[in-house]
Amino acid sequence: MESSSHTGADAAVQALEDLKTDIEGAVLDTVDAIDEYRIRYLSRKQGRITALMKRIPDVAPEDRRAFGQAINSAKDTVERRLEEATAALTTAASATSAPADVTLPGREQPQGSLHPITQAARLITRVFENYGFDVAEGPEIEDDWHNFTALNFPPDHPARDMQDTFFIEDAEQEHGGILLRTHTSPVQIRVMEDIMKDGEPPIRVIVPGRVYRNEAISYKSYCLFHQVEGLYVDEGVTMADLKQILHAFARTLFGEDVRMRFRPSFFPFTEPSAEVDIWWKDENLPGGGRWMEILGCGMVDPNVLEGVGIDSEKYTGYAFGMGIERIAMLRYGIDDIRILYENDVRFLEQFS
Ligand code: DAH
Repeated sequence: MESSSHTGADAAVQALEDLKTDIEGAVLDTVDAIDEYRIRYLSRKQGRITALMKRIPDVAPEDRRAFGQAINSAKDTVERRLEEATAALTTAASATSAPADVTLPGREQPQGSLHPITQAARLITRVFENYGFDVAEGPEIEDDWHNFTALNFPPDHPARDMQDTFFIEDAEQEHGGILLRTHTSPVQIRVMEDIMKDGEPPIRVIVPGRVYRNEAISYKSYCLFHQVEGLYVDEGVTMADLKQILHAFARTLFGEDVRMRFRPSFFPFTEPSAEVDIWWKDENLPGGGRWMEILGCGMVDPNVLEGVGIDSEKYTGYAFGMGIERIAMLRYGIDDIRILYENDVRFLEQFS
């Protein structure tokens, strides 16, 4: 018993001595040699250092502490040698490698791009900014007052059904409920209310934003989409000003020779109201094209102005609103609105 444990201790001490010699002696001049060295000594499972740790119980109790310390110092040596060898190799490599070839073409980095809806929104907004419009924004969660009542949709008026609404809070409540805005027109009201706190017209804003409708999803309608709203209120604003600015807008977007027409229409917040179509050329169609509606517009109804405290005897205004998706689909030749919301990279990449 005694002699066998004695032998175990001797063997362990001998193994430690061998280990130290091997650690010092190894030649570490290649990446492979360094890797192999690391694994041979430091690997948790099969490393020689771990193996030696397991032999601590073989050593006489009074020697164990010193034995353990010796293993630790061997481990330190391994780590130091690894570090030095790696550093030496790196220096050697950079000293001997050829100087950088500055004529090599660069590596192309993949680049993201703006979503076509964002691109169209910015384009539309920029056209009106060039005519002196300020950009305004409003909340997507609206109250009934701004989305409907202040825009001259009386309670229970069938015109409310023109826009299928997602309600958040019941419409029967005192302030008429909370909803997801169905158009960007409520921002007209917010902007006018704001200005009338301590000012007067002129008011000239363009309002891009997201809107929601509880509609069946198809190739031409989605439960959310984007609009741009325009509003200009001042003394002496007329329908002629409206036609002039919208025509200028259509020329910028669809070309100098764009054909455009105003059709009488109805919106509660404008009087008179119109819808604007552009002639879309398409050789495959009989007649060589067709009229496509791009926006609604009109002269701001005096009721709307008075509702926010603007003197409708003194001031008049025009307003217009258009769907951004519609414009983007026309410009980019997209025939299904849903593809704008799928975020398929193969589609989006075409807009970089
Ligand atoms: N808000 C209308 C809609 O979503 C669009 C619209 C029509 C806005 C006429 C206007 C306007 O400002 O004058 O259908």
